[in-house]
Amino acid sequence: MTSITDPVTIDELEKYASNHLDKNAFDYYSTGAENDVTLRENRLAFNRIKLRPRMLRDVSHQDISVTVLGHKLSMPICVSPSAYQAMAHPDGELATVRAVRSLGTAMGLSLYSTTSLEDVALEAPNTIKFFQMQLYTDRQLMATITRRAEKAGYKAILLTVDCPLYGRHQGRRRFELPGHLKYANFSSVQQRKRFKSNAELGAHIIALLDCSVDWKILDWLRSITSLPVVVKGILTPEDARLAVQHGAKGILVSNHGGRQLDGVPAAIEVLPEIVNAVQGTGVEVYMDSGVRLGTDVLKALALGARAVFVGRPVIWGLAYKGEQGVKAVLQMLRDEFKTAMVLAGCASLKDITSSLVMRPATSH
Ligand code: FNR
Repeated sequence: MTSITDPVTIDELEKYASNHLDKNAFDYYSTGAENDVTLRENRLAFNRIKLRPRMLRDVSHQDISVTVLGHKLSMPICVSPSAYQAMAHPDGELATVRAVRSLGTAMGLSLYSTTSLEDVALEAPNTIKFFQMQLYTDRQLMATITRRAEKAGYKAILLTVDCPLYGRHQGRRRFELPGHLKYANFSSVQQRKRFKSNAELGAHIIALLDCSVDWKILDWLRSITSLPVVVKGILTPEDARLAVQHGAKGILVSNHGGRQLDGVPAAIEVLPEIVNAVQGTGVEVYMDSGVRLGTDVLKALALGARAVFVGRPVIWGLAYKGEQGVKAVLQMLRDEFKTAMVLAGCASLKDITSSLVMRPATSH
């Protein structure tokens, strides 16, 4: 039963989280890079896109199921990998994966999860899960963790290419993982090096980031795992073509929720040119960054995304009520999306085409 004071939109959930999470955590989750130009743009760009609904079509049944990398999902709305979820709720990633399981969709797990990738997998063995990997100078560490993910049943590696180092933001400069939480996938590093605090281990991990890598890293990653690789963080058609040439099976168009290079365009704005660049290759294109409403999902699919991913909304759901909160987030997005489909005259995902949107002229 919902009460009149329960949050009913993702924005209300964010407000709830801002009032209930401690400042260290809320600042870490909510901020973007530098002046938050791209963070704001992620919402503004969705708002600029207008819909062209069609009337009097039979929309009495909607089918929103989709396949992602050949896996059937109940809806084209998945969970982006985001770090340190146990700061938002003690059950952290376990709560998220339970909610994802009950909704029948897919979850990206961050390399920086506060529950180990094995424990998350054990909690929901039949749920589709993707594991997110970072670019490290220590290739052995990358290989070991990738193979652990493969063994635990993850279905793809999301290779994050947009943070060869971390974008800067005032709010996050002071961030420290609280002492009672763990860099759960790094226990072997901790055992070997015996760091005295999360701050020391965190600094070590940051120092491992490798900004010398080039596209050959994809060839290397594919040589050490049989899992499909999805490249996360692509913003140009040029890079999308390179990802295809180097064997990516999927492209996640993303600006990391505005957390890396400030001043890049909204992911939704560059989505069409990327979809166009890889057309005919069989490589799937997804997007994240700024999805907060069912109509955003409709717009992203109309512009060619196969599915969308959401990052912060899941955190706000965790802060609200753990598993139930994440479930509420996914249900809100699903129900809003289905309503938007009906009002726009779409009975199935096939009906969601580019003729459904009007885009403002872009600057180039
Ligand atoms: C992220 N994101 C992220 N991405 C990644 O590849 N590895 C990670 O560990 C994290 N961690 C992380 C933490 C937090 C708090 C946020 C908000 C985001 C980026 C994430 O996967 C996704 O790209 C964005 O969150 C999408 O934007 P929205 O939905 O938050 O607007």
